Amino acid sequence: MQERDVVKEYYGKTLQSSEDLKTTACCDIGAVPEWLKPLLANIHPEVLSRYYGCGLIAPALLEGCRILDLGCGSGRDVYALAQLVGPTGEVVGLDMTDEQLDVARRHQGWHAEKFGYNNVRFVQGYMEQLDELNLEPGSFDVIVSNCVINLSPDKDAVLRGVHRLLKDGGEMYFSDVYADRRVPESVRTDPVLYGECLGGALYWGDFLRIARRAGFTDPRLVEDRPLEVTDPVLAAKTGAIRFFSATYRLFRSDKLETECEDYGQAVIYKGSIPNSLARCVLDKHHDMETGRVFPVCGNTWHMLKDTRFAPHFDFIGDFSRHYGIFAGCGGGLPYDDSASGGGDGAACC
Ligand SMILES: C[S@@+](CC[C@H](N)C(=O)[O-])C[C@H]1O[C@@H](n2cnc3c(N)ncnc32)[C@H](O)[C@@H]1O
Repeated sequence: MQERDVVKEYYGKTLQSSEDLKTTACCDIGAVPEWLKPLLANIHPEVLSRYYGCGLIAPALLEGCRILDLGCGSGRDVYALAQLVGPTGEVVGLDMTDEQLDVARRHQGWHAEKFGYNNVRFVQGYMEQLDELNLEPGSFDVIVSNCVINLSPDKDAVLRGVHRLLKDGGEMYFSDVYADRRVPESVRTDPVLYGECLGGALYWGDFLRIARRAGFTDPRLVEDRPLEVTDPVLAAKTGAIRFFSATYRLFRSDKLETECEDYGQAVIYKGSIPNSLARCVLDKHHDMETGRVFPVCGNTWHMLKDTRFAPHFDFIGDFSRHYGIFAGCGGGLPYDDSASGGGDGAACC
């Protein structure tokens, strides 16, 4: 069976609800933030019961945005995001599996009535062929995805298509499963491990290379957590490989440099983003407290100044003088691993 058929079978027929999963990979066990709880309470129980995501894909400041959800499944994130973008925004959900889309579409009217507006639509298709879906290039503010890209046999094509559909200054914000090494053939071809989002997991270093090749010069890690392979049979097959769920944000901007360069710049967060009054967290290394001067590299400056975040910051400095590489930028496993006492990548990005 082709990878796609394995995945369609797994999400269309094998799994009937989140309870049927065999690992914690395709199921987000992280705490739901308080502000999200009332939004999830507005979502139909059947949609919620078929949630197979691995992270939170709701960045700040979405009102009025146009969002695309790759591999939207039964639509939990689409319906949550629909409330965040509001009546002036739009959320498009894309999936390839009939059974998943049937659930998502069946409850569209129910949600429209609940929200008081209909701002979602669902499209059937493949995320590797985004240019065949009549979606206008440069027309999305944000593209999200929750535990889906690992299932793609052609991840390069997915990210190239995403880059093409994003507006300049827009971002891909997505959660997925990564491995601490390249996954061997025996794990990659196991249908259950593949369906459970482990077999197709990218080695994090390869993911960064693919993202950069697609035009996302400075991928930013937002959060991560180690995954447990609880099923003993599957654990024996995966052996010493460590898996992580991680959320990345990829800004589309031609101005970003390959390294974090220091121009002596800084920003001050105004404390004006809803649900983030005390601090604004751009990524794992940029937790900016309200009112405090926060030194930034040139790339972070662009991620804040040339995007929807700009009105919420004061900007200090410019690009007229270069001071070398931004201190603290480095390599190594970027994820925190409770088993080995923390990652060694204490970098700015
Ligand atoms: C792990 S589930 C996640 C579903 C949803 N994001 C959620 O959080 O519940 C993966 C979904 O991606 C879809 N999918 C996998 N590969 C795809 C592809 N190449 N193109 C479009 N959809 C795909 C599957 O049909 C399935 O619904």
